[in-house]
Amino acid sequence: MSAIIVPGRRAFLGALGLAPFFTTRGLFAETLTPTKPTTEGPFYPDTMPLDTDNDLLVINDSITPAVGEVTWLTGKVVTETGAPVRNAFIEIWQVDAKATYLHTKGRTPQRDANFQGYGRCLTSSSGEYLFRTVKPVPYTLGGVTRAPHIHIAVSRNGKRLFTTQIAIRGHHQNAGDIVFKPLSSADMNTLVADFAPVPGSSHGELNAKFDLVLNRTAVEGDDGVLRGGIGKPEGLRGFRR
Ligand SMILES: [Fe+2]
Repeated sequence: MSAIIVPGRRAFLGALGLAPFFTTRGLFAETLTPTKPTTEGPFYPDTMPLDTDNDLLVINDSITPAVGEVTWLTGKVVTETGAPVRNAFIEIWQVDAKATYLHTKGRTPQRDANFQGYGRCLTSSSGEYLFRTVKPVPYTLGGVTRAPHIHIAVSRNGKRLFTTQIAIRGHHQNAGDIVFKPLSSADMNTLVADFAPVPGSSHGELNAKFDLVLNRTAVEGDDGVLRGGIGKPEGLRGFRR
């Protein structure tokens, strides 16, 4: 299926809460709280799906969508000073409604063959990204039970800049989760998103807003040359969480 186009900045104004942010350069410059990085985990796809766009609900021209609670995952990638990070390469991957990843070692006996499992897009000129996916569910794989989460990674200029996991705010499994439990409440607060009903949606669709604040300044390719790509660093192929 064709990718969903990221709406213009105006469509996001007010919705993200970052739009009216002003910064002051110099000694008293305000900074945003950086998003806490976490491990990539073991289930980044070992084989890419045929379709890698930002609509995980439908694979290519299929007429059968994935099952699950449809979720619009949106957000903005910014630096600590609030500057948008444009042309960033955003990847997400997660389990389907049957708790199965694309990764061949991340599967339960059941699988939703209509779920794309992985998606990617570039941030817009104002740093925004958009995915349509399903609300993540808990899973037990390799003997480890995890609270629901969506993996998300940011690359620029062919290098992975950042990797973390988005949790569901208030989910009862967060406190005991192997990845989330060690985090301070302040750090954990940077990893949660509300999965809130879309007003007026007759299909129970959800909105999940997740802004990423990078604690480093991404060197931008302002020469117009797009160097983005999967910037998976070496050494992260192992079976780590
Ligand atoms: Fe995971």
